[in-house]
Amino acid sequence: MERIDRLLTKLGYGSRKEVQQIIKRGRVKVEGLCVRNPSQKAKHATVTIDGEPLDPEKLIIVMHKPKNIICSHNDAGLLIYSLLPERYQRRNPKISTVGRLDKDTTGIILLTDDGSLNHTLTSPKKEISKIYEVTLASPLNGSEVATFASGELMLNGEEKPCISAKLTIIDPYHAQVELKEGKYHQVKRMFAATGNHVVELHRSKFSNLTLDGLAEGEFKLIENNSTFN
Ligand code: URA
Repeated sequence: MERIDRLLTKLGYGSRKEVQQIIKRGRVKVEGLCVRNPSQKAKHATVTIDGEPLDPEKLIIVMHKPKNIICSHNDAGLLIYSLLPERYQRRNPKISTVGRLDKDTTGIILLTDDGSLNHTLTSPKKEISKIYEVTLASPLNGSEVATFASGELMLNGEEKPCISAKLTIIDPYHAQVELKEGKYHQVKRMFAATGNHVVELHRSKFSNLTLDGLAEGEFKLIENNSTFN
């Protein structure tokens, strides 16, 4: 049970003052009955606003990230959070991306306000699979498959080699790579280590999730995190 003004504020429905006004105007019900006292306590599942259930207590969002969008809370450019509804942007705790994609990388990215889920999904121990579609500047020669699979590829500035990654060559300029870790700029640095250069990068899969019809800039909610068990 939680004070309804506090609950609504945490979920981004407005400042404490704004939600108190919303409650006093009779827009909020608990178990179907109008409440006008902001300090009344209630369980999240029993509260409606304008007849609608509240947004979920924890949000897990799958987004199709477009190019030129930045995965950061404080940067000069266009931030990924600006693609979310304002209510989501006002939530406390804040929504954060699960790992990051570079500004010029497109594709699937998760966002959540569930800090412990975020921690689990980014933990190297969890070895979550991520699949990237790569376009290269120079033709592949085939030896990259063994190099990526070796578990011995060292990237500049890293203490440990990359864990074994599966590279599938589609044609000389296109490949798919599956990583089970997420070092900084990892795909670009792995190809750079073979003397090549990534010109386009798109993430098509995160764990068992795909974009599944989401257009660039669109997102959907995942109902529960058992998806990752
Ligand atoms: N690897 C990269 O180099 N960039 C990304 O955005 C993701 C993985």
